[in-house]
Amino acid sequence: MPAALSLGSLPLANALQDTSHTDVNTYLLTVHRCMVCGLVQLAHSAPPSEMFSKYLYATSASKTMIDHFDKYAESLVKSLSHSQDKIVDIGSNDGTLLKAFHKYGMRNLIGVEPATNLAEATQNRDIKVISRFFDGDSVELIGRESAKLVTANNVVSHVPDLDGFIGHVAKLLAADGTFVFEMPWIVDWLRRGSFDIIYHEHLSYFGFRPLSIALARHGLTITGLTHFSDIHGGSWRGMAVKVGHEPGLWSGSYNKLEEIFDIEFRELNKQSLVDFEERMHKIRDALVSMLIELKSKGKIIVGYGAPAKATILLNYCRIDNSIIDFLSDSTPVKQGKYVPGVDIPIVSPEKFHEAKPDYAIMFAWNYEREILEKEQSWISNGGKFIVPFPEPHIVP
Ligand code: TYD
Repeated sequence: MPAALSLGSLPLANALQDTSHTDVNTYLLTVHRCMVCGLVQLAHSAPPSEMFSKYLYATSASKTMIDHFDKYAESLVKSLSHSQDKIVDIGSNDGTLLKAFHKYGMRNLIGVEPATNLAEATQNRDIKVISRFFDGDSVELIGRESAKLVTANNVVSHVPDLDGFIGHVAKLLAADGTFVFEMPWIVDWLRRGSFDIIYHEHLSYFGFRPLSIALARHGLTITGLTHFSDIHGGSWRGMAVKVGHEPGLWSGSYNKLEEIFDIEFRELNKQSLVDFEERMHKIRDALVSMLIELKSKGKIIVGYGAPAKATILLNYCRIDNSIIDFLSDSTPVKQGKYVPGVDIPIVSPEKFHEAKPDYAIMFAWNYEREILEKEQSWISNGGKFIVPFPEPHIVP
């Protein structure tokens, strides 16, 4: 496959450093599109042990995600008949979704989470966490065909062996079980131009055509689809069941899937990735010019949030600590660390307010609404956000 677009060689997005001036490993970030099924994937992979053993992303770091998973659990519990129906959450992170299921009365809850720091935070009497990557052995440990519900949110994009993964999910599901997954949609990403979500942990960038082909190989078919424009910049929740257990008329999903295929056919072809690379250059140039101009006027510029996306945007644009004083982030384990490759310190939100910056780059742009609400008083005192996508602009 020819390389469709490349961001060059960049550090791992979540490899925040304990000290400044450290040498960091960089790995190529090149994206290809399969000419047969249309799946967009990274061409190179970085070592999983470097990426996932101590994971800094915590779902509960944003209220938007806590509320989202609360509603998610509430709606799915309605389809279950007994509090002991087994629910398995793959990539359970800090247990936000499992705890929501618990709140709605479910008592047979299992998480599978390789990051030991997160797995430990989740366990309780009704929630067991298996601290490992989801694989065939996890299925044996949990029990074949035992799960009424298997959930995997923002997980399929991270999986190196997609066929193996879906095969294991199919083995774990009870005959009448449902697989529920959420994933950012490549079309939303292409429309927004948000190239900062391309990083080594994200091995695949899904459309529904390649995903439904992979599910079908393991006897699963998509029977429910809901789009969430506010989640990770545009995500779908899909539900899949074993063929032969589809609800009547696929609950209307068949038509929706056809519409999605049409959109993907129109908006995602070989040329779209080539065009996207050009757009990446334009966004980078516009952002860098904007920052240099503000800096030359003596403005204090910082970053809001230190998501994985910030590492990519900063390194790709080569914006370092000569322009940005710090990034503030509400996640305690990120505070005191440095963004790899650009050596920018991460501080607490309190420091952000003490510093009274003129401008803050909104790295966590996927929570724009939540952040704008939260920072009303800073904004009314003249503070302004720089939002990088779809092209760099100032808010308000
Ligand atoms: P997120 O965009 O969810 O993830 P990713 O790392 O996959 O790109 O990360 C958002 C980060 O922003 C997270 O570290 C928490 C932080 N954050 C704040 O500091 N303040 C806020 O108000 C919000 C909503 C997030």
